[in-house]
Parts: sequence; C-alpha cells; structure tokens
Amino acid sequence: MNRSVRKTVIAGNWKMNNNRAQTKELIGEIAPLVKDAGCDVVLCVPYTNLETAVDAAAGTVIKIGAQNCHHESAGAYTGEISADMLAEIGVEYVIIGHSERRQYYGETDKTVNLRTKAALAAGLKVILCVGEHLAEREYGITDEVTALQTKVALSGITAGQMKDIIIAYEPVWAIGTGRNATSEQADHACAAIRATVAGLYGDQIAQATTIQYGGSMNAANAAELLSKKDVDGGLIGGASLKSKDFAAICGAVN
Ligand code: 13P
Repeated sequence: MNRSVRKTVIAGNWKMNNNRAQTKELIGEIAPLVKDAGCDVVLCVPYTNLETAVDAAAGTVIKIGAQNCHHESAGAYTGEISADMLAEIGVEYVIIGHSERRQYYGETDKTVNLRTKAALAAGLKVILCVGEHLAEREYGITDEVTALQTKVALSGITAGQMKDIIIAYEPVWAIGTGRNATSEQADHACAAIRATVAGLYGDQIAQATTIQYGGSMNAANAAELLSKKDVDGGLIGGASLKSKDFAAICGAVN
C-alpha cells in the first residue's frame, strides 16, 4: 500500500451469514478493536441485517455496506433491492460484481457496469470485484481478464466518479479455499489493474485508486499481503466473521 496517495480499506464481506442478534454482537465486538485502525473499515452484511448494522456501527469508525444492488431505481424486479433503497437506510458502500454473483446469479460485465453506475448515482461507494478463474491463470491471461472486467465495469464512469470506486482483485481460485494468492501474485495483479485504470483515466487517478486483494486473506497472511506496494487493503470473507481475526487484519495495516 502507498498511504501517501491513497486510502487503505479493509472490508469484511459477511456473505450469507449472521442473523440480526449476531450482527449487533459482532459489530459490538469489532468496534472497540478497530477504533484506532490506520485504515477505513467497512462491513458488508446481508440485506436483512443492514439497518441493525447501521445502528450498531453508529458512532464507531465502521462503515456499512451491502453485497449487491439492482441497476434500476424501481420497477418490476421481484426480489431485487435498488441502490436508492440502500442509501436511504444509511448504507455507504456496496460490493458489485463479486465472483459468487457472477457464478451463481448470471451477472455479467455488462450488468456489473449498470449496477456500478446505479450505485454511484445513489451516492454509494462501490467495491468493484474483478478476478480470474484458475484456468485463466494457468493460461497466463490473468492480466487480460482483469483488464477486460475493469474496462467494461468502468465504461461510462467519469474521472470524477473514480474517488467513489474501490477495486477488489479477487482471484476466484483463492476465495474460500484457504489458498491465498502469494503476495507477489497479488501485487502483480493489483499493479496490472492500476495500469488499466491509468490507461482509462491517467496516472494521477490510478495512483489515488484503492485496489484491494481478496481471497483467503487472514490474520496470519495479511501483513505480508498488505506490505506490497500495490495492495491497498483487503476484502475479507471467512475471517471477517471472527472479531479478533478481522481486527488483526485491520491491525496489520499498521
Ligand atoms: P474468503 O476470505 O472467505 O476467501 O472470501 C473472500 C471473498 O470472497 C471476499 O469477498
């Protein structure tokens, strides 16, 4: 990370875990542990826990995010939630394009782009996920894959809007597998994504863009991953469900 030019952000992605009581309890545990963190701290929780999380995080350093949003502001989209609905209840961040959404719910680079635009229009900050599958890494096309995903996702996004975008590099093979990318692999991929952003918006904006690593990041490997110059934080799944582990990752920033 290069803290002189960009923010370090540690975000937890709880995925489909925790009920409301657990949400309140876990945020209550995490808040005092991260109050002096040298990074921004975000927790992305299931829709039904968002209001509880916003209340529990009030007065703490923790910001609350959702894990997806629809690209229309209203309409006949059964089961969907709009970005405006999230913003209305005090949500500040939203994850867009997580590989689990791409894999299980048919999200494409095009819908990721539409959702990103809708989230920004609603005043949300976006954690935009990109990353290659194992076969793509083995073919040696990781940088091409993340460049394509990044370019389509950011299509039509202005330079001025880039301050509200965090990019999360999440290699699909590292998610939930216990097999994290090496710090060199993470740094290389984050640098390649930064080069793509530079190609679109110029070097100054690229240098100011926070690019996280995600995929089996934990209390034991966070310091090494975060020591790399192009890794500006983490998007944490499993380890964000345990207060001490998540706090240790935030602590690794220092
Ligand atoms: P894990 O940390 O459980 O591998 O999950 C990473 C992830 O998908 C965060 O969005």
